[in-house]
Amino acid sequence: MPSPIRFHLSLVGAARQWWQDGIEQHGFWRTLWKFLREVWGFLLESTPERRRRRYGDVEYDWDYRVDTTSATISFRDRLLGTFHSPYQATEPSLFHEMVSSLNIDYRQFTFLDLGSGKGRTLLMASDYPFRKIVGVELLPELHRVAEENIRKYRSGRQKCFALESICADARQFVLPQEPIVLYLFNPFPESLLKQVMVKLEHTIRDGPVSVYVLYHNPLLEPILVKSTVLKKIGGTPQYVVYRSAA
Ligand SMILES: C[S@@+](CC[C@H](N)C(=O)[O-])C[C@H]1O[C@@H](n2cnc3c(N)ncnc32)[C@H](O)[C@@H]1O
Repeated sequence: MPSPIRFHLSLVGAARQWWQDGIEQHGFWRTLWKFLREVWGFLLESTPERRRRRYGDVEYDWDYRVDTTSATISFRDRLLGTFHSPYQATEPSLFHEMVSSLNIDYRQFTFLDLGSGKGRTLLMASDYPFRKIVGVELLPELHRVAEENIRKYRSGRQKCFALESICADARQFVLPQEPIVLYLFNPFPESLLKQVMVKLEHTIRDGPVSVYVLYHNPLLEPILVKSTVLKKIGGTPQYVVYRSAA
């Protein structure tokens, strides 16, 4: 596994990168429209009512004495999230439905969450006897909280103890050449998801390794549909499951 990449994320840099990617893909006017929509969405999410509503996901944290809620994200990190992907934690019952739907020997697989935020999925995945569990998170503050959560987490159901959060941009992260359950909860815009899928296809071909993809809230599923090495094996409106074809 590669060593953590430490970097400083500037708001201006993130906005510039977001703007350039947008212009390349959609042209000036559509990007401007998307920008105004994002800013409007951000302002709406900042109202006291919406902030109060974000505490709706805090039950998991009470149960396990951890901090995975999206309610306590700082203003700056929420703004950065607008240009990458806003933090939102996976709902526990849905997570267990997804992972237990995989008919696999968990001990052979690394669970990898690209865009792991405060690490709730890493904690939940440790209920299964995965070989190891790795999260990759772009925002240093969320990664720091994830590390703290991993340290604090106690559960009688825990079966995997090799948990790690890595602070890195998924763009640069080198996928391990080993069987993977790749978890994606809408972490990337279209261009980045395409790049990650190209890397994943190389990993599958070069290995060859067995890969399962759990894609939660699959807004950009057409990118996976086009893959020549992944095939869909299941799903619901909330998530889809793909596996390497070989
Ligand atoms: C919707 S949240 C999902 C959090 C977590 N996977 C879960 O399900 O509980 C998406 C996360 O992806 C992170 N992210 C966005 N772009 C990223 C990138 N290029 N590399 C790594 N993480 C990224 C965001 O900071 C955010 O924490």
